[in-house]
Amino acid sequence: MSTNLFSSSFIPDLQKREGFVRWQSPSNIALIKYWGKFGVQLPKNPSLSFGLSEAYSQTSIKYSSKEADKANHKFYFEGKENPVFGKKALRFLDDLDIVFPFLKQLDLNIESKNSFPHSAGIASSASSMSALALCLCSIEQEVIGSLQDEFDFYMKASYVARLGSGSASRSVYSGFCVWGEIFELIESSNNYAVPFTYEVHPLFMQLRDSILIVSDSEKAVSSRAGHALMDGHPYAVARIAQSKQNMTWLIAALLQGDTDRFIEVVENEAMSLHALMMSSKPWYSLLHPNTLRILNTVRAFREKSELFICFTLDAGPNVHLLYTQEDEIKVLQFIEDELLEFCVERKVIHDKIGFGPKRID
Ligand code: PMV
Repeated sequence: MSTNLFSSSFIPDLQKREGFVRWQSPSNIALIKYWGKFGVQLPKNPSLSFGLSEAYSQTSIKYSSKEADKANHKFYFEGKENPVFGKKALRFLDDLDIVFPFLKQLDLNIESKNSFPHSAGIASSASSMSALALCLCSIEQEVIGSLQDEFDFYMKASYVARLGSGSASRSVYSGFCVWGEIFELIESSNNYAVPFTYEVHPLFMQLRDSILIVSDSEKAVSSRAGHALMDGHPYAVARIAQSKQNMTWLIAALLQGDTDRFIEVVENEAMSLHALMMSSKPWYSLLHPNTLRILNTVRAFREKSELFICFTLDAGPNVHLLYTQEDEIKVLQFIEDELLEFCVERKVIHDKIGFGPKRID
């Protein structure tokens, strides 16, 4: 018999046999990008992100003693059985026997919904997997009585979220956070994300992120397939070194309020991510001609206006435009005048740095 925070082969006596938990958890945007993995969902390079405010998932779980021999887990998305999301979530639960041995004894009714439309082109795996992981950790608290310590609770939630989707590990904390080992944060780990504990310059604590929706279609190549193409990639070693160097520079910029360095690093990370896709074998690109039009327009506007404004990209064609609250009026005007024409149906989602997940049952 072995037992620790993340795994146990011990079938516990349950202190409570039915209940209800609900969590709201945000999506996040990486400034230093995780790309490529090894082992069981471990990152080839460290990443740093901040959590969003308006783009989140709400997930609830009603649990009760199992009625049949085998526990029965059901998943509903936006009130309906959703075969695609359901299969993913239920397969994920099946793999969690060692992490949550009590799951074999409970029937679960899981309901999930997102604050943003599925077709908005925002990756929902970070918010949905982190919300599910937080619910499961709350159930563990209630039925076993463990995870009472807040630090342990979030560490385990991040660990579990990571198993569902790497970037989800970073959604369980508010503000900036890091996933993957870096020498600047001794508590950092490949197994779970940790909050970025240094004092970030106030300028960056009120970041705005306007997500310009260039396309809302399903991605042609999934992130899972993209990560896999980093195995044996000719630039893999250089990418790991680059991400660590960019991490060091970005941390210095965040602490010092150095906006020039921030822009240089953040845009370099975005373009490097897509360059890695284009130099994979087979090559592919998720960029749209309008993505490049937006990037060029943003650069020209920055040079002309001298405002602090830059972009980052996820694994897709949509552009995350980053700026601060104090320039909001000017930037919103710029978006309206020069960028919306490149967006599908002039769609944009105005988001900002958020306050992390919250339990809402
Ligand atoms: O968490 P995944 O497996 O969907 O991978 C996400 C990878 C990027 O979004 C491109 C970068 C990141 O660090 O979030």
